[in-house]
Amino acid sequence: MFNKRVRIKELLSNESANYQATVMGWVRTFRNSQFIALNDGSTNNNLQVVASLGDFDDAILKRLTTGACIKVEGEVIASLGKGQKVELKASSIEILGDSDAEKFPLQPKKHSLEFLREIAHLRFKTNTFGSVFRVRHSLAFAVHKFFNDKGFVYLHTPIITASDAEGAGEMFRVTSLPLDGTAPKNEDGSINYKEDFFGRSTNLTVSGQLEGELAAMAFSDIYTFGPTFRAENSNTTRHLAEFWMIEPEVAFNDLEDNMNLAEEFIKYVIKYAIDNNKEDIEFLAQRLEEEEKQKPQNERNEMTLMEKLDFVVNNDFERLTYTEAIEILKESNHNKKKKFQYLIEGWGADLQSEHERYLVEKHFKKPVILTNYPKDIKSFYMRMNEDGKTVAAMDILAPGIGEIVGGSQREERLDRLTQRMNEMKIPAEELNWYLDTRRFGSCPHAGFGLGFERLVQFVTGMGNIRDVIPFPRYPKSAEF
Ligand code: 4AD
Ligand code: MG
Repeated sequence: MFNKRVRIKELLSNESANYQATVMGWVRTFRNSQFIALNDGSTNNNLQVVASLGDFDDAILKRLTTGACIKVEGEVIASLGKGQKVELKASSIEILGDSDAEKFPLQPKKHSLEFLREIAHLRFKTNTFGSVFRVRHSLAFAVHKFFNDKGFVYLHTPIITASDAEGAGEMFRVTSLPLDGTAPKNEDGSINYKEDFFGRSTNLTVSGQLEGELAAMAFSDIYTFGPTFRAENSNTTRHLAEFWMIEPEVAFNDLEDNMNLAEEFIKYVIKYAIDNNKEDIEFLAQRLEEEEKQKPQNERNEMTLMEKLDFVVNNDFERLTYTEAIEILKESNHNKKKKFQYLIEGWGADLQSEHERYLVEKHFKKPVILTNYPKDIKSFYMRMNEDGKTVAAMDILAPGIGEIVGGSQREERLDRLTQRMNEMKIPAEELNWYLDTRRFGSCPHAGFGLGFERLVQFVTGMGNIRDVIPFPRYPKSAEF
């Protein structure tokens, strides 16, 4: 057996010394021809490996360059240097993989996030991305733990679908027809998708919600956690063309139950990360503080990352209606002094991210749940309220992020639902399977979607969503 290594995180957390150990990892630095800082991705804390002078051939020492992969056997001893309790005195060093110091793009110094995005295939090897992706992992695990502990069924919804769950038309087409003009055509010149792979026109899913509703009508409580795709041309720090979404769907829940579930869920997963990734979050907090120092005083965060996370976990989210939010925005000095790009003139306007951020960051200074939006700015499946003007929608807005959750109570009444679909020109015949839920044992139900990358952004304090997913997809970029 080759792999008898101990992880560096484990080795460093065990303060006892004077035992033999094998470690493997990548050289971060090698200084004074003696001290190797070794990292294996289990923690940002490097293990100090001591290659005592005279113990090793020059030929080996020369190959201990930044990025090289090595296997070290030796004795764990109490460290004389500061910064660590133990270190490894090497008795043998084996080079597993060389790294040409002249060509390796990651030098032991600070690189900009923009530069690292260009070498996303190597950025896992940095402290920042080590922390980000360990936190991302923990959050994903916490998502499953939360729902599993509550008895939800994890449902795998399809990636390829024939429907547009959001009715927004922002879909990537999936086809195996040739794109050179020779695809079979209908008489009117349009492409004949009956000849396509699935015998119909298909796309990548924008949401697993509709299929989730089908399962909730049998299991009562389900959630999905999978990739979703949006062909919206948004070049922002909050949008990806491929992102992961968590979508619980619960039979017998109304809008308030839905809000309660979402708030409990968000607090749970953040607390899980605080409890299990303290070291990484503290590292990221430090990074953020340094980044903030570059900004003018009035743009800096009032709280450190850890304070912000603790605050969210320990305080109730503010809940108000869309109508109340519009009043606050309309009357705000910001609006009166025309500081919004889109001025709020009255009821009915869609909220832009500047408005959401004003409410959350300036007005309430905490996460906000907005409810009961005008029906015209929301999706067809949301439940119509008594007023006939608003629907039982809810969006959760988070400081620094804006919308992190979108959800609603669903329209369970068949007649209302089909009427709304007609009004919005959603083809009912294509969604017959969906409408069957309302024909056979319909019930009040509700659900929401949480954008996983926006959650990871919130917990890691990373400013750009492209830095919290391993290989980001956005307009004009699909490398790696
Ligand atoms: O508000 P959205 O579009 O809602 C839905 O898709 C519903 N079907 C969810 C449901 O009720 N089951 O998207 C939900 C969340 C947003 O609040 C946001 O956090 C995230 O998904 N999101 C994106 N994240 C990254 N990049 C994008 N382009 C995103 N679009 C939405
Ligand atoms: Mg939304």
